Amino acid sequence: MSRKILVTSALPYANGSIHLGHLVEYIQTDIWVRFQKMQGRECYYVCADDTHGTPVMLRAQAEGIAPEQLIARVHGEHLRDFQGFHVAFDNYDSTHSEETRRYAESIYAELKRAGLIDQREIEQLYDPAKKMFLPDRFVKGECPKCRARDQYGDSCEVCGSAYTPSDLINPYSVVSGAVPIKKKSEHYFFKLSDPRCREFLQAWTRAGTLQPEAANKLDEWLTSGLSDWDISRDAPYFGFEIPGAPGKFFYVWLDAPVGYMGSFKNLCDRLQLDFDEFWHADAGTELYHFIGKDILYFHALFWPAMLEFSGYRKPTQIFAHGFLTVNGEKMSKSRGTFITAESYLKQGLNPEWLRYYYAAKLNGSMEDIDLNFDDFVARVNSDLVGKYVNIASRCAGFLTKRFGGVLAAPELPADIENAFAAAPEEVAGYYEKREFGKALRKIMHLADLANQYVDANKPWGLAKDPTQEKLLHAVCSTALALFRDLTLYLAPVLPQTAARACQLLNLDDLRWDDASKRLPAGHRIKPYEHLMTRVDQKQITALLDANRENMQTASAAAASAVAREIAAVDGATIGIDDFTKIDLRVARIISAEHIEKADKLLKLTLDLGDQQRTVFAGIKSAYRPEQLVGRLTVMVANLAPRKMKFGVSEGMVLAAADDEGIYLMSPDDGARPGMRVK
Ligand code: MSP
Ligand code: ZN
Repeated sequence: MSRKILVTSALPYANGSIHLGHLVEYIQTDIWVRFQKMQGRECYYVCADDTHGTPVMLRAQAEGIAPEQLIARVHGEHLRDFQGFHVAFDNYDSTHSEETRRYAESIYAELKRAGLIDQREIEQLYDPAKKMFLPDRFVKGECPKCRARDQYGDSCEVCGSAYTPSDLINPYSVVSGAVPIKKKSEHYFFKLSDPRCREFLQAWTRAGTLQPEAANKLDEWLTSGLSDWDISRDAPYFGFEIPGAPGKFFYVWLDAPVGYMGSFKNLCDRLQLDFDEFWHADAGTELYHFIGKDILYFHALFWPAMLEFSGYRKPTQIFAHGFLTVNGEKMSKSRGTFITAESYLKQGLNPEWLRYYYAAKLNGSMEDIDLNFDDFVARVNSDLVGKYVNIASRCAGFLTKRFGGVLAAPELPADIENAFAAAPEEVAGYYEKREFGKALRKIMHLADLANQYVDANKPWGLAKDPTQEKLLHAVCSTALALFRDLTLYLAPVLPQTAARACQLLNLDDLRWDDASKRLPAGHRIKPYEHLMTRVDQKQITALLDANRENMQTASAAAASAVAREIAAVDGATIGIDDFTKIDLRVARIISAEHIEKADKLLKLTLDLGDQQRTVFAGIKSAYRPEQLVGRLTVMVANLAPRKMKFGVSEGMVLAAADDEGIYLMSPDDGARPGMRVK
């Protein structure tokens, strides 16, 4: 019986744009799905936007729109970005759907019936101004360990210690600025501590459902013991209200994975498929979830337990991948390496370059993968343009000009014949195991052989000798036959180029088992058209520059969103206590320097009377360094030090600014460095 496979990628949050990090996952999954489809298997790829939760609610408020409007807009943006990178979902839905609501409610009801839902009162931080409970990430304050300011409620970015929001010193709500209070409320829990859950998960996670590294992680988690999982949130919350519990909503992570079912159900209704064939407890079909390693906990513990105790099938396997780094470092907004899918496409870069590069780096493990732009340029140009496209571009023209596009029988030297004959199985094995890097290395090795064959026979030389007409025909036909095979192997990675190569080769589509049938004599090809251009290093520079600018506007937008949120709170004022937290000081600029490669920043050394500070200020467009040296200004002296690309910035200078100009603040004559500004 032919395999039937349902595949998912994690559902991206509806409160942000798709970036190159996300694309690792969607490209990886898409390649795997395309490969399965080329094998003739019945395979469906579903996904959706993950729409619920506090961030979506607050962002909609900040934009002055309903959450439904926000998620509708973002859905369109996400779909546009995915299509731009040829990620071909069979269905791309939203978790804010009737299907997802229905399954979430029924799973919850089953868990309750199984005695796995508990109810108890807990105490949490509450924003009295905004009248809402605050998730950890929405409380900031001083780190209880190192006293660094402006740290999140769950962990300190300066010293790395982990704690709970109520440990923070001088906590404040990120939403309103108010001092949070402690407040009790009733919460619902999924009783993961129940021995049934533990037993089930211990067996399930060891049954070959996880990669070895993931299974080890799970072992650690299981050994340290499972706690009950808090699955409810209090209003105001954007999500599904819990049946029979007014004012209580399912926590976003409860309904998010249910979105896989919801999206598939939606597809079933469109295509008349049988939902149960894929989700019934005894389903004989396969189910795979592609995810990033950061959400393993949810997919390997909570989700299978939810499915098990509500009577559904469990995933066949969970495929976790690592995180993307760019040029060896974590993607970062301040470094400008936080590149959105949209900006990559807008800059005119070919999405298949990225697909190829990621594929070349991907394997079946959870290791992180690095996007190194020098390597990217070199690899794309040498492999895709220099090796693969080169075969067709050197031979197709002779066939159309000299032989009416009609192929002769291919005549392969034995060694090449053998290498190509073994390839379909070997390459398929790599794709199946998600060893895409190995698959591409094998394919490029075959491309090398094909190019050596062309080099050895020199069709351009044969073309000048009328007595070699027959050989010219055979050589070019052979090369095109090999090009067809390479196209087939590359098609999961390069769907668009493969489609254009099919036009050239005059083929409708490519299936994996076509590899065993060489293009026959008498087959007619179409005139060659350019298949792929080289990457120009300048395009990369432009991409990075565009994102650096993007990021500055994005953080400005985020700042003003917070400002609007604050203003949206009734009677939006801050107390004198809030104001006096800011330590403003007069400072003298004792040196100002250009920074190589920084478009906007100057490096300032500031004298505060008893100490000196280094500050990076975005004022380069308005001042030459020599204009600044010696003058007084005002600085925020107690801003937490910020690590930037060029060094650590130890404060901030104040300036008035709008689109037209930047005007540095300075005190009247007579003020001295170090004086407090009140
Ligand atoms: N909404 C949740 C998933 C719910 S699934 C039921 C979520 N969303 S996300 O937008 O943050 O991430 C979506 C996927 O992209 C996740 O699998 C995540 O691991 C992956 N990635 C996000 N940033 C990434 C990198 N920088 N690198 C690689 N993958 C990354 O998590
Ligand atoms: Zn700390």
